[in-house]
Amino acid sequence: MREKDTDTQSVDWESEFLELVERRLGIAIPPRRYRATIRPYLEQWSLEIGLDGPATLARELGRLTTKHPNFSRLVNVITIGETAFFRHPSQIQAIRAFLVAYYAKVKRPLAIWSAGSSTGEEPYSMAMLLHELGIPGDVLGTDLNAESISAAQTGDSYGSWSVRNCGPQEVEEYFERTNENFIVKPVIRNRVAFQRQNLVSDEPARPAIGRKWDLILCRNVFIYFSKNVIVNVLAKFTRVLAQHGAVCVGPNDLLIGLKIPLSKGVGDREALYFHQSHATKRVGREATPVPRNGSTAGRTSDLIVGSATYSDIVGLLEDNLHTLAKDGLEEYVRLNPSDAVAQVTLGNIWLKEHSYERALQLYRSAIRSDRKLAEPHYFCGVCLRKQGKLAEAEVSLRASLSLSARFWPAAYLLAGIFERNQNPLAAEMELERAEKILMEDDGKTDLFHSAAHIVQSAHGLPETVLLAVRQRLSGLRKHRSNLEVTPT
Ligand SMILES: C[S@@+](CC[C@H](N)C(=O)[O-])C[C@H]1O[C@@H](n2cnc3c(N)ncnc32)[C@H](O)[C@@H]1O
Repeated sequence: MREKDTDTQSVDWESEFLELVERRLGIAIPPRRYRATIRPYLEQWSLEIGLDGPATLARELGRLTTKHPNFSRLVNVITIGETAFFRHPSQIQAIRAFLVAYYAKVKRPLAIWSAGSSTGEEPYSMAMLLHELGIPGDVLGTDLNAESISAAQTGDSYGSWSVRNCGPQEVEEYFERTNENFIVKPVIRNRVAFQRQNLVSDEPARPAIGRKWDLILCRNVFIYFSKNVIVNVLAKFTRVLAQHGAVCVGPNDLLIGLKIPLSKGVGDREALYFHQSHATKRVGREATPVPRNGSTAGRTSDLIVGSATYSDIVGLLEDNLHTLAKDGLEEYVRLNPSDAVAQVTLGNIWLKEHSYERALQLYRSAIRSDRKLAEPHYFCGVCLRKQGKLAEAEVSLRASLSLSARFWPAAYLLAGIFERNQNPLAAEMELERAEKILMEDDGKTDLFHSAAHIVQSAHGLPETVLLAVRQRLSGLRKHRSNLEVTPT
């Protein structure tokens, strides 16, 4: 009798719990998955926090708001292997369109990799798409979870929840039915292979020798990874992705702000990314030596701001996501008040927005943090010049040149101030200095990266500046020779 009571109670709390999950998360957990993973997890979790069992824990969870950390933990557990055939239908449409156009171009069998394939619904859906479109090709599904891989390999125990996005025609065409289950037909199963693989630590999967993947799906996996891990995994993908192939991430896998070696091809919710020249440009830019003295900038790039690194933030800047970068940098500078490079970089954002006072504040604090840096003096000069404070600007620009004699932008700007102050001889001297530097080594200064970037966007390439310098010099010289020949 006692036993029977316990059983009835157990059924009660479990069905209440499953109902709760369905109502609040919209996820119906299949019984097999519940028994295999969720129930043991709840047991372990309840012990861990000193409760008398999973029933009490489940009831406690039912009382929490969705924002409570324990509720979020539950969401993570529930969603870890969540998947479905033809999941995210608008992405499936975009993938269908991509496959048609791509196959028309390459005209050979395609290789598709579903990375983080869970129990197989995603790779089987890709095989179904290939079948529907009459495109030859194979699919590989990989996952960290060995149980998921073996469930995927049998392909015979999908419930109605898994096939909720399939129309009656697709169900008819691709599945055999038993009372409870949907079984993937051999014509589809034969096109899909599975293997266990850890995306983070293993080498990326490869298709047949000499081939690369035409499409890599990695959907709803990144939600569990840190930003750095995501970037590393995407970099692995690019090594094995065919030249015009695509990577598809989940619509909720936000890659905004990450410096990724791929470029966005199709809209936000469709989230298809491509290999292309943009990627090559980024790699080149990363290879550019950044720090001047190897100390300040090198140290900065490894520090963490929340979960974003300084280089993540600079990545935002390079993508012209200034507002996001500014917020990230404000936080970074608050946490690292003596980081001169970060202060100058943030100052430059304010400068671009014409907020000269805030920019000056940052440059001045950069000068206090690192007395040897020429850049903050130069940018102080730029702000002061913009504010019409020519005498103060002159002092800052001279300071910058005394710290770095090859800093032609300071000489160039100083020349302009001398011209405004009716001092053409001094202007000529500064322009000659700029000309000399610009002719040697293509005008390479040893500016740190973000400063070089802003100088280039203000003045153009060194060869353009050299032309402008020469024009101004010839104007000044002509003017001087006119004065010299004018009879007194
Ligand atoms: C939410 S499921 C996504 C399934 C499928 N991609 C989809 O979108 O429907 C996430 C899957 O990622 C797998 N996963 C998590 N970390 C992984 C890793 N480091 N390597 C490979 N797979 C991983 C999990 O085991 C889980 O099956």
